[in-house]
Amino acid sequence: MAYETLIVDVDDYVAVIRLNRPDALNALNSQLLGELADALSAADANEKVRCIIVTGSEKAFAAGADIKEMSEKSFVDVFAGDLFTAETDAILRVRKPIIAAVAGYALGGGCELAMMCDFIICADNAKFGQPEINLGVVAGIGGTQRLTRFVGKSKAMDMHLTGRFMDAAEAERSGLVSRVVPAKKLMDEAMSVARKITEKSALTVMAVKESVNRSYETPLREGLLFERRMFHALFATEDQKEGMAAFLEKREAQFRDR
Ligand code: HXC
Repeated sequence: MAYETLIVDVDDYVAVIRLNRPDALNALNSQLLGELADALSAADANEKVRCIIVTGSEKAFAAGADIKEMSEKSFVDVFAGDLFTAETDAILRVRKPIIAAVAGYALGGGCELAMMCDFIICADNAKFGQPEINLGVVAGIGGTQRLTRFVGKSKAMDMHLTGRFMDAAEAERSGLVSRVVPAKKLMDEAMSVARKITEKSALTVMAVKESVNRSYETPLREGLLFERRMFHALFATEDQKEGMAAFLEKREAQFRDR
């Protein structure tokens, strides 16, 4: 399918979804979010995709929800229309791993979108922020909840209450991103990480994603039980036999996703 606000490219089992509204620093309007939900669902269903990268431009991953589009909406419009719920639910339903490759601004909804991905790799020019307070609103697609879990209460409060931006070094120090690389190398690094994931058993990759996400959504005891059951369940797969045999035979594993 052709999109107007995205560029999608599938190569070597990696889908790269590039947000593409350069005139508005990739601000997330309903069209872009709808297309993104569609592209992610399509990648999830595509047998030629084993890992997904969501990225933007060198200047902006996304500078937030589209303020122009939101500015005239009433409470009734956004509440009755359940603004952004269907799109974000679709993103969270994706079972394949999603890497956010962030350069430049990831603000408001842009920062929230990056945090909805499974992990964030960023360029050294990245700037993260939740500046909604300056617009008289709060974050709306997870920013108060996810940023707090990523960086802790003190930094999250600081970011949300002052609207200040966090640079790449602070983001790495705080645990918001997993790696920082020079801006020119961002896509090479993201591709090399994605390719590494494509070599694993798709079954185990899905089990890891579900298990780690459980740590966000359940108390520790439930999360530990879920992880243990998932660990036990994987012994029913051929990939577990192959993975362990390959180690013992000192060779590379040949996973078949079974
Ligand atoms: C609509 C936006 C936009 C946005 C930038 N633009 N951000 N349009 N919505 N969020 C547009 C500008 O209007 C401008 O268009 C063009 O992009 C370039 O932006 P400039 O401001 O000229 O660039 P610069 O001076 O480099 O400043 C970059 C910036 C600034 C610091 C990122 O644009 C900025 O502060 N943007 C808003 C950030 C923000 O408040 N985000 C949170 C949104 S609320 P023209 O036509 O004038 O050239 C939110 C709520 C989430 O995200 C809740 C649910 C999703």
